[in-house]
Amino acid sequence: MVVAIDGPAGAGKSTVARAVAEALGFAYLDSGAMYRSVGLLSLREPARPPAELAREARIELSPRVRLNGEDVTDAIRTPAVSAAASRVAADPAVREALVEEQRLLLTDGDWVVEGRDIGTVVAPDAAVKVFLTASEGERARRRAAEQAGDAAEVLAEQGLRDAHDTQRLHSPLRSAPDAVLLDTTDLGLDEVVERVIALVGGR
Ligand code: DC
Repeated sequence: MVVAIDGPAGAGKSTVARAVAEALGFAYLDSGAMYRSVGLLSLREPARPPAELAREARIELSPRVRLNGEDVTDAIRTPAVSAAASRVAADPAVREALVEEQRLLLTDGDWVVEGRDIGTVVAPDAAVKVFLTASEGERARRRAAEQAGDAAEVLAEQGLRDAHDTQRLHSPLRSAPDAVLLDTTDLGLDEVVERVIALVGGR
């Protein structure tokens, strides 16, 4: 079974997806870490087409993110890599390569998958689809707390990235028509996790 969790930056996808996977004993797939890995490669090798980098990259996601054998778990979380990830994610050939890998992983077993296009493109037949949102201010506040950064700066960076992810031509960030919309602005983590688990239980 696949539980798809999509939504904008800072809506709580990672925390929720990890907690749901843990509670249900499902595997967890962070598709954003794959785009971030290709973003990192494109910063290191700016002359090469990102799609080529995506096709060549060996990305392992668990327990640490390894890119061609190198542990990049922390290196892919910088603001520069966030921006680069959003950039390469707009390239349809990059998406094609990564979506193929994601689908291959999902053929076997039970998964909680987080991203932007999981319910719409990667796993349109997912048993449960959740679209997580939160107010812009709350999302920036959470990100800033996570990164020990400045909330105003995070808000600006996040706004740019969301606009880019939402307005891109290929697989833009949007809710699948059959996704359950969950606004987490005023909800605690436990409450959100419980609601997602209840959706899974209802299947
Ligand atoms: O979820 P994240 O912040 O780690 O994602 C990094 C970038 O990758 C984000 O700007 C959008 C892109 N992304 C995507 O286009 N499709 C996905 N399934 C996951 C992430």
